[in-house]
Amino acid sequence: MKNIVIFASGFGSNFQALTDAVKHGKLHANIAGLICDKAGAYAIERARINSIPVALLERNSFSSKTEMDMAILHQCQSWNADWLVLAGYMRLLSPMLIQAYPRHIVNIHPSLLPKYRGLDAVGQALDQKESIYGLTIHFVDEGMDTGEIIVQVPFEAEQLDRDHIEKRLHQLEHQMYPAVINKLILEESV
Ligand code: GRF
Repeated sequence: MKNIVIFASGFGSNFQALTDAVKHGKLHANIAGLICDKAGAYAIERARINSIPVALLERNSFSSKTEMDMAILHQCQSWNADWLVLAGYMRLLSPMLIQAYPRHIVNIHPSLLPKYRGLDAVGQALDQKESIYGLTIHFVDEGMDTGEIIVQVPFEAEQLDRDHIEKRLHQLEHQMYPAVINKLILEESV
């Protein structure tokens, strides 16, 4: 069984969807741990409820970003991570960490990349009065939301309203992310 380590900074609904998918036999992997960089993140509570180990690694506990990512790397190695899955983790990873897991770090982003990289992708798209929204699941490289695209799911917004769009996005994310991770893992084992 492959070990996945999930990275989250906040609410953790995608982390929950991945956890539920493992529980229901839809994602054939072991969630070895959660890496979190925010002490108050609800993702930590979700991990505790689901008996998943947590490593809280906050930027202000380290003298540099590289030192922080070295600690993350050691934690992932001690959990025997095969895949790193970013689910609302709000930091760029250091090249050293990315190079330690070539093509084994994935991210989910709430826009149809390469449009609307970075923070508040939905707000950026709403500002442009887009009618088509969507999500992208991609490999992580050293840029901000620039890695090779694995899958994109577009949808047409019925209303140009943030709550409506975010609700639809989350539904799609929670279906797609576990399914895509499962496919990547299965493809690797054939
Ligand atoms: C998701 O919309 C994801 O696309 C983006 O961050 C958000 C995280 O939401 N990368 P949650 O913390 O999983 O609820």
